[in-house]
Amino acid sequence: RPMAILCGTVGALSAFYHDGLDISQAEDRDLSARRLIAKVPTIAAWAYKYSIGEPFIYPDEEMSFSENFLHMLFARPGNHYRVNPVLARAMDRILLLHADHEQNASTTTVRLVGSTGANPYACISAGIAALWGPAHGGANEAALNMLQSIGTREGIPSFLEQVKDKNSSVRLMGFGHRVYKNFDPRAKILQATCHEVISELGLERDPLLDLAKELERVATEDDYFVSRKLYPNVDFYSGLILKALGIPTSMFTVLFAVARTVGWVSQWKEMIEDPAGRITRPRQLYVGETKREFVSMSDRG
Ligand SMILES: CC(C)(COP(=O)(O)OP(=O)(O)OC[C@H]1O[C@@H](n2cnc3c(N)ncnc32)[C@H](O)[C@@H]1OP(=O)(O)O)[C@@H](O)C(=O)NCCC(=O)NCCS
Repeated sequence: RPMAILCGTVGALSAFYHDGLDISQAEDRDLSARRLIAKVPTIAAWAYKYSIGEPFIYPDEEMSFSENFLHMLFARPGNHYRVNPVLARAMDRILLLHADHEQNASTTTVRLVGSTGANPYACISAGIAALWGPAHGGANEAALNMLQSIGTREGIPSFLEQVKDKNSSVRLMGFGHRVYKNFDPRAKILQATCHEVISELGLERDPLLDLAKELERVATEDDYFVSRKLYPNVDFYSGLILKALGIPTSMFTVLFAVARTVGWVSQWKEMIEDPAGRITRPRQLYVGETKREFVSMSDRG
């Protein structure tokens, strides 16, 4: 489970690095921030290599962030892996577009843990834990699973009937967004990237990608989705791109964490550097019963 490895190992980095932990010092905060951004992709790639039983590939300082990440994921000792620039650019866009997104659950978690003065590795590890939940980081995986369950182009009409049926809870995964009610600007970029990657790899005939393209066409012309302003979102395309790159679904949330680490670290730094910062401590409003009669253990049902 690469996510388990990532969550635990990032927290454990605070035991590995003994310097840079005095968060009242600007240099220490900077050092930890750089280390986290640099080490998380290595840990993520190594978690993957470990899960498939392949040797670890060390980072290459000559490469860009995304090239290096792809290299650590896919190179093998003894085989010279050339990073394809189209794929590196796709990875770059996925990472950039997932880097930060205001106060989502994981970023709020990082800030909350950080507000106690906890070390930055513990804060980012807490963010990874929040991202682990399927309601936050799992949408692109869910979109891909949905495509797999639809199976073929022929399965699209009956699936869409279920989605539109008021009595069913089936949703078109990878469509709609709580905030963006017109096309998500990030999705537009990933849509173009997705098509670039598919044609670069000659995957036009891949049945799953073909099905996704057809579903995108049918749904974006269907009045149910048009009238509710439901467009393919960033997760619809990121899942397809990652699949085309050969990244298994068990790595999708890990990849999201690699991208979001940049945002988490920046938000953590911003918060710690704010002189008005205080511990985050939500209050609780009791809305339960005011008075209950005591019932002895022997009389309880
Ligand atoms: C993202 C999401 C939770 C946003 O939901 P929301 O803004 O609260 O939208 P609502 O739940 O208010 O839905 C508004 C209407 O659109 C429908 N709808 C919303 N998303 C839908 C979807 N993905 N498939 C089918 N119908 C959908 C709702 O049934 C509702 O219809 P109604 O007005 O007839 O009752 C929702 O679109 C969704 O579940 N999408 C699929 C999961 C996904 O891709 N998540 C990742 C988001 S980045």
